[in-house]
Amino acid sequence: MTRHLRMDEPQARLLDETGQGVLSTPLPRPEGPLKVTGRARYAAEVTMPDMAVGVLVRATIPAGRVTGMNTSEVMAMPGVLGVWHGGKMLRNPAQGTANAAPVQPGDEVAYYGQPIAVVVAETFEDARAAGQALEIAYAPSNAEPDPDTAATVETAEGLDQGDLEAAMDSAAYSIDAAYTTPGHSSAPMEPHAALAAWEGDNLVVHGSYQMLKYNVNELADSLGIPPENVRIHAPYVGGGFGSKLGIAPEAVAASIASKELGRPVRVAMARQDVFEMTMRRSETRQRVRLAAGVDGVLTGLGHEDRVSNLPGESFAEPTVQATHFLYGGENRRYVQEIARVNRTCAGSVRAPGEAVGMLALENAMDELAEAMHVDPVDLRLRNIPDTHPESGVPYSARSLAECLRDGAERFGWSERGLPGERREGEWLIGMGVASAARANFIMESEARVTLNPDGTALVETDMTDIGTGSYAILGQIAAEMLGLPMDKVKVDLGDSAMPPASGSGGSFGAASAGSSVYLAAQEIRAEIARKLDCADDDLTLRDGNAVADNRKTALTELIDAPMVGHGHLEPGKTAESHSQAGYGAHFSEVAVNEVTGEVRVRRMLSAFAVGRVLNQRTATSQGHGGMIWGIGTALTEELQHDPRDGRIVNRDLAEYHVPVNLDVPDLDVMLIEERDDESSPIQAKGIGELGLSGVGAAITNAIYNACGVRVRDYPATPDKILAAL
Ligand code: MOS
Repeated sequence: MTRHLRMDEPQARLLDETGQGVLSTPLPRPEGPLKVTGRARYAAEVTMPDMAVGVLVRATIPAGRVTGMNTSEVMAMPGVLGVWHGGKMLRNPAQGTANAAPVQPGDEVAYYGQPIAVVVAETFEDARAAGQALEIAYAPSNAEPDPDTAATVETAEGLDQGDLEAAMDSAAYSIDAAYTTPGHSSAPMEPHAALAAWEGDNLVVHGSYQMLKYNVNELADSLGIPPENVRIHAPYVGGGFGSKLGIAPEAVAASIASKELGRPVRVAMARQDVFEMTMRRSETRQRVRLAAGVDGVLTGLGHEDRVSNLPGESFAEPTVQATHFLYGGENRRYVQEIARVNRTCAGSVRAPGEAVGMLALENAMDELAEAMHVDPVDLRLRNIPDTHPESGVPYSARSLAECLRDGAERFGWSERGLPGERREGEWLIGMGVASAARANFIMESEARVTLNPDGTALVETDMTDIGTGSYAILGQIAAEMLGLPMDKVKVDLGDSAMPPASGSGGSFGAASAGSSVYLAAQEIRAEIARKLDCADDDLTLRDGNAVADNRKTALTELIDAPMVGHGHLEPGKTAESHSQAGYGAHFSEVAVNEVTGEVRVRRMLSAFAVGRVLNQRTATSQGHGGMIWGIGTALTEELQHDPRDGRIVNRDLAEYHVPVNLDVPDLDVMLIEERDDESSPIQAKGIGELGLSGVGAAITNAIYNACGVRVRDYPATPDKILAAL
């Protein structure tokens, strides 16, 4: 029994009618105990009899060709089983939803740190020693490591609507400012790892990936085998943030070696590998122009940027994604330049686009508010457009104004003073605000739900849980729909043999996979209604009982064989008919030390509106995660590239500074009640990346409010602040 839904029109809000009362409640993650006791097995912890271990060896030039290596010497080392290079090895991971093999460069080297070879041995120690002894000879060629001076720059003409130049000339107030953001690393806690084992022509991989249905095709295409022969297990993923959207070099390397050796082979990345050979977020150079009338209403808006990537990669950081729809203004212009560089591949890193594009936009809005002497919250409220300023379509649910107003109220925004006004000893105190916005969409997703005669249910889909709470929310949706307590529902995820879900990416996982579970459960509800001879609408399922026409029947009595529902969601017309996004407002209070330039974030509040909240706890945690990323983005995170060869210099967590506990104050997350009827049949939108979108600007705007220093080159490190004080 399949229920297929194309999201062409709003659906009834059934989840507001069901009576189990588990949905939206702050239930803890069911797999939490397994994780904190070490019983949840991550890819690198899976072992197999006779398993060999491989390490990846990275290029030490930025461009050129491999001409040879001392393979025979290395093969003679203790425990060494083989060295593979070239051939089907990957240059870099697949971009998200690529569904096909990434570049397989053979002997060509395109960036410093590219995986060149896999060395396989009996033990990890033997493999690592051999990998370190592998000497690679190169024929170097000219490298372009610097996006500012790169010889090849492609220009993507964005929109040119109206006449921005004229709007700037005639504006009562205008801002024309340049900003830069450095590269970022996703830096997931769990390094990428894969264990590959063949049975004849069939390949099984235990790995750490976000989107299994695409990953199967990417791995199969990389190896030149049919996708039916590939199965991927990824039941637990220790963070991805985009770096695990696509199949990555370790999976292909392990598969090649395993096939040749006839043994299972595990390849886990070292932390330096993760930095150098998975995805980085491109650095950006941005110019924002704002033109406003005397009332502060925007008449023009320009957002231009330069980003970079390797030759041949289709991905370009979508810097202006939220600029398209967040604020009004008739005259609009966007141009993007993509510099082709010999640097680690650029790809999706959490909230691609908004995470850095909104820093510039929300700083510029702060500069405009300052120039006009209006409250920055007020300025944003004045610029919320009625319809999409470019396409003219209406918005789906959009509680931006509520987030700004309610957030300001709860944060105590009215206490904000002028720059330099609030002081505690040598600390200057300031407050900042930024809007949050993140484009919303759903992806095709399937799930199977089985209701058993013993009153338990099983949810099965290849959906992943990358630390977000998929196990929790998918179980909650099934329990709510089937009227079961949570402990009667089991959720199995992360096996590509199960129905193909959206996967985890783009913040679309919860609404997409959640809707497929909802549809599957709807099918079971319909069958129960048929059995009870009542209309679907007259059926109530609660605590293991079905109630219809004042008759109450236990599900265990009603069902004598498993009932299986299959749910299949596809995006449809509402994706085009309405502009969909999650919205929010970030507030921060910082203290800037006028002697050292040090910035401490003292408190933060973010208000979010994301349609139906599926689990208050996991949604709040997603908010926390985004806000913490925002602290890193604003103050510390920065990939440093050696100007000579583009190599990432700070390629570990000691040198790439993500926020630590002491950097993170109490974080307050407000979830605004909302339903988005156009977003999905469960009226839910994405939340994960929204938390990061704009938040860093609330911190840099607070720095300005504290001490009058405008940092336009991220991150706002003490040296930049001191120099300007
Ligand atoms: Mo996300 S950057 O699509 O994991």
